[in-house]
Order: sequence, then C-alpha cells, then structure tokens
Amino acid sequence: MFSRREAVQHRCTQTQNFPFLFVAIFAVLGVVSIFSPLFYCVFPTQPHWYLCSPHCQKSDPISGHRETQINYRKTNLSHILFGISGSAKTWNNRRHYAELWWKPNIIRGFVWLDEKPPENETWPVTSPPYRVSGDTSNFTYTFKRGTRSALRIARIVKESFELGLDNVRWFVMGDDDTFFFLENLVTVLEKYDYNEMYYIGSNSESAGQDAIHSYSMAYGGAGFAISYPLAAELFTVLDGCIDRYASFYVSDQKVHGCISEIGVPLTKELGFHQVDIRGDLYGLLAAHPLAPLVSLHHLNYVQSIFPNMTQIDSLKRLMSAYQVDPGRTLQQSICYDLNRKWSISVSWGYTVQLYPSLVTTKDLETAFQTFQVWKRKSKEQFVFNTRPMSSDPCKKPVVYFLESVENIAQDRSLTRYKRFVDLLECNGTDYAPLFAVEFINVSASTLSPETWKMAPRRQCCEVVNGSDLQVNIRGCNLQSAIQLRV
Ligand SMILES: *[C@@H]1O[C@H](CO)[C@@H](O)[C@H](O)[C@H]1NC(C)=O
Ligand SMILES: *[C@@H]1O[C@H](CO)[C@@H](O)[C@H](O)[C@H]1NC(C)=O
Ligand SMILES: *[C@@H]1O[C@H](CO)[C@@H](O)[C@H](O)[C@H]1NC(C)=O
Ligand SMILES: *[C@@H]1O[C@H](CO)[C@@H](O)[C@H](O)[C@H]1NC(C)=O
Ligand SMILES: *[C@@H]1O[C@H](CO)[C@@H](O)[C@H](O)[C@H]1NC(C)=O
Ligand SMILES: *[C@@H]1O[C@H](CO)[C@@H](O)[C@H](O)[C@H]1NC(C)=O
Ligand SMILES: *[C@@H]1O[C@H](CO)[C@@H](O)[C@H](O)[C@H]1NC(C)=O
Repeated sequence: MFSRREAVQHRCTQTQNFPFLFVAIFAVLGVVSIFSPLFYCVFPTQPHWYLCSPHCQKSDPISGHRETQINYRKTNLSHILFGISGSAKTWNNRRHYAELWWKPNIIRGFVWLDEKPPENETWPVTSPPYRVSGDTSNFTYTFKRGTRSALRIARIVKESFELGLDNVRWFVMGDDDTFFFLENLVTVLEKYDYNEMYYIGSNSESAGQDAIHSYSMAYGGAGFAISYPLAAELFTVLDGCIDRYASFYVSDQKVHGCISEIGVPLTKELGFHQVDIRGDLYGLLAAHPLAPLVSLHHLNYVQSIFPNMTQIDSLKRLMSAYQVDPGRTLQQSICYDLNRKWSISVSWGYTVQLYPSLVTTKDLETAFQTFQVWKRKSKEQFVFNTRPMSSDPCKKPVVYFLESVENIAQDRSLTRYKRFVDLLECNGTDYAPLFAVEFINVSASTLSPETWKMAPRRQCCEVVNGSDLQVNIRGCNLQSAIQLRV
C-alpha cells in the first residue's frame, strides 16, 4: 500500500513516462495503422478517450469536443445522472424528501442500496429507481467507530459511471436526506465546461468539521457534482484510493482523497448546503449568500423552517415559491423607508424582516445566529459571519413568513408574507406601527438564469405606501446605493 505522497509520485511517474512510452511503442510498431486502438485512444475522435490510462498532466482529451464547447452552457436536467446513497431498511422513512424534488421520467439517477428491498414491498413509483451496490467486503476500512457503508457509498460515482448511460455530462452525488433544487443545480453547472475536470460543491458551515475533515472537500450531504472527464478518471483509480484512504471515516473523504491525487481542487458554490448546523436555520435562510439555492441537507436535524408546520409541509411551502421563480428563491433584497425610518430585508419566497430603525446593509446581510454548531458543546465557529439574535423583543425585527405566491403577469410574481406573532413582543411606541402591518406584498420579475452568468449583484427594492406594505424588487440603477444617515 502507498502512503499518500508515494501514491501521487507513483501516478505522476506513470504520466511522465506516458508520452515517451507512446513514442517508443510507436517507433517499434512503425506505421502499423493509425486506426490501431492505441492511436485511437491517444488522439480520440470519439468520446471513448476515457479508456486511456491515467495521466497526471492535463492531456487534451477534449480536442474532439472543442466545437461543442460553445454549447456547453446548454446543459439541461437530462445531462445529469444522480447517485443517491440509501439503504433498504431506511428508505421508507427517508424517501419523502427525495420524492418532493425528484421528477420521474425527467431526470435520471438511482438510489444505491446496501441490499435488495424486501420482496413483499413494491418500490414506490414516486421514488428514484434503485440499484444495489456492489460487494465491498474485500476493501479495507480501519476507522474505529465508523461503518463500512462508507466504502460502498464512495463507490457510487464509479458504479454510476460504469452504467455507461448516454449523454451524461455531470454525475451528482447526494445523500438520501439531501434536498436538491434541480433548476438551480443546472444553472450552476451550466457555468462550467463539462468537457473539463470539475469537482463542484461546498464544505461544512461548522469550522470544526472542516478542520477535522477538510476545508477543500465537497461534503456529500450537500451534494456534489463531478464532470464526465473527472468521473472517467475516478473510475480507473477509485478502488485503489479507497484502500489508501482506509483510515478515513466517511465516503466523501475517500472520494476527496482520490480527487486530490488526480489534482483537481474543489470549485466552491455557495448554494450547496451541508447544514452542519443545529437548531433553527432561519438566520441562514434569511441572509442567503448571493448564489442560487442548490441544496439543503440534514433537514431532520433542524427545526422546521416555517413555524408551526412540519418540515415536509415547510418544504412544500418553500417549493411553491421556488416553482414560480427558482433563481430568486431565498435571494435577499434590502430597502429602506426613509420617511418612516424603517429597514426591510426580504429573503424572497421565505421571509421578510421589518425594523423600526435604519439598520446598515452590512448588518442586514449578516446572518442572525439562530442556530448552533454541529458539535453543540464545542467552541467551534462558523465559516461565515453571524450576528446575535437578541432575546429582547425590542431589539429584534418583526418577522413575516411566506403565506402565498402567484404569477401576476408573465414573468412577474407577487409573494405575500404574514406577520409571525412572537410569544414576547415589544411594547415600545416605535414598534406599534410595525405591528399594524399584518401582511407584506413583494412583487418581482422572475430572475432569469442568465442573471447568474453575470457578475453577481444583490437586487434593489423600494417601498410603496399602501394599506399593506408593498415592496417592489428590481434591478439596481446606477448610483442606487442608499447613503443612510443612521
Ligand atoms: C437537453 O439537451 C439535449 C441536447 O443535448 C436535447 O436533445 C434535449 O431535448 C434537451 N432536453 C430538454 C428537456 O431541453
Ligand atoms: C413484509 O414482510 C416483513 C417481514 O417479513 C413485514 O414486517 C412487513 O410488514 C411486510 N410488508 C408488507 C408491505 O407486507
Ligand atoms: C475488490 O473487488 C472489486 C470488485 O470485485 C474489485 O474491483 C477491486 O479491485 C477489489 N479490491 C481489492 C482491494 O481487492
Ligand atoms: C398552529 O397550527 C395550529 C393548527 O394548524 C393552529 O390551530 C394554531 O393556531 C397555529 N398556531 C400559531 C401560533 O399560528
Ligand atoms: C413594556 O414591557 C415591559 C416588560 O416587558 C414592562 O416592564 C414595561 O412596563 C412595559 N411598558 C409599557 C409602556 O407598557
Ligand atoms: C408614504 O407615507 C408617509 C407617511 O404616511 C408619507 O409621509 C409619505 O409622503 C408617503 N410617501 C409616498 C411616496 O406616498
Ligand atoms: C397583496 O396581495 C394580496 C393577495 O396576493 C392581494 O389580495 C392584495 O390586494 C395585495 N395588496 C396590495 C396592496 O397590493
């Protein structure tokens, strides 16, 4: 077995020799035939180039694909193959999240199970189809308190590739409790050329988790995407890596170890959420980073995202807005009513916060810490800034939650948010006029996926007077930054 460094050297030696080896063989064979498999392999004209042996240097496997490069943005759901880790015994309890986002007959993928589901139970048609993972009993696993299922889960990417399905550009891995927002996933993947090697995802919100596992690893629960050429490379080397990284606890670490050897870094996308967080996700979802919402995970470990609702019903509520405007979901807009000296922060499709004072944008875009780190008792921190949520009701915003959503014109939506009546409310005179606002209506045009290909900028909004508070979200004008006199 190689140590990690030896392993890398070993592979690179192989690479450096590779061209010379080829020249030598070619010289010996003479001009045998340019149609020989070897030639075919090195200068591919067909998408079979992945049959080549592993190489460290980036060869040009895509020369035959150059002409398609301009079209790589036209990626759609049919180009993704999902690999979801599941287990036969728990699928029935876990499937409800997957069934909310899965689109039968439109997307492709499998739940990979540890064993065949019980014969007397029919596999639900609303679930993704299943496959049974290959035997991993001959692999080594030495992490003391872990489970060997990490081995088969790590191999899902390999087994998915092995299926040899047509027109797969991206392999997307996820857990049985990963909730994917499909259209936004496509929006994100479209930015990257699938003809190149990409490893796309995000790491843990809890710095302690990142310190233990890695800051540069894509966390499996958040889901991660591997482009076709990288999957091809993983296909040839993964089993060896799994034994080299036998001491790693979980599957995503093993995959990451292997991708490190190939030399491909993580491309971080801020819309993938591992949710290594306990308590109430509210603060994070109310100040989402400026990126499309791609995934949520660990939804059974946090409170329901809407109050007084089950988590499944909460997700249905969020999906009702998502379906109307995927790209805008959870996008924050901040505006001020300078007459009344109110501040308003909208997280589209989810919540609105109303403040009886002018609060700086810097504060408003910082997440309220309504949650705790993954290891509750530890002193670990988050990998993003937070601000405390005061227990004093006179220091909190008045909070509204999504009530309904409708299309009011083609490409224009109206979302309505209802005031949440807190247990303890501020009796200060500045709060009274806020409490009089029971509903807030927010109108916005639908956010085109094209917007996400441009430099990101938070959209602006303005307050319109009326009986209900009305907010219009729109693109910002030049010099529209508001200079507050707080
Ligand atoms: C997805 O793209 C392929 C081309 O690669 C095309 O044939 C197919 O019709 C597209 N599907 C959808 C739903 O747009
Ligand atoms: C299938 O069989 C198992 C035990 O053999 C039983 O516990 C389970 O309830 C059965 N399921 C159905 C749907 O009949
Ligand atoms: C274990 O078995 C699999 C499938 O039969 C094979 O691909 C792999 O190389 C084996 N691994 C080891 C360490 O022997
Ligand atoms: C919570 O839901 C129940 C049943 O749907 C309802 O009766 C109750 O008024 C709700 N409570 C709040 C605070 O909205
Ligand atoms: C407001 O509430 C606080 C306690 O929450 C109380 O001490 C105070 O007297 C109240 N003020 C008014 C004006 O009702
Ligand atoms: C909105 O209402 C406030 C207070 O009622 C008033 O001072 C202000 O002029 C109004 N603004 C517009 C644009 O109507
Ligand atoms: C707010 O939205 C509701 C329902 O969508 C609508 O009935 C109401 O008229 C709207 N209010 C304003 C001021 O537009």
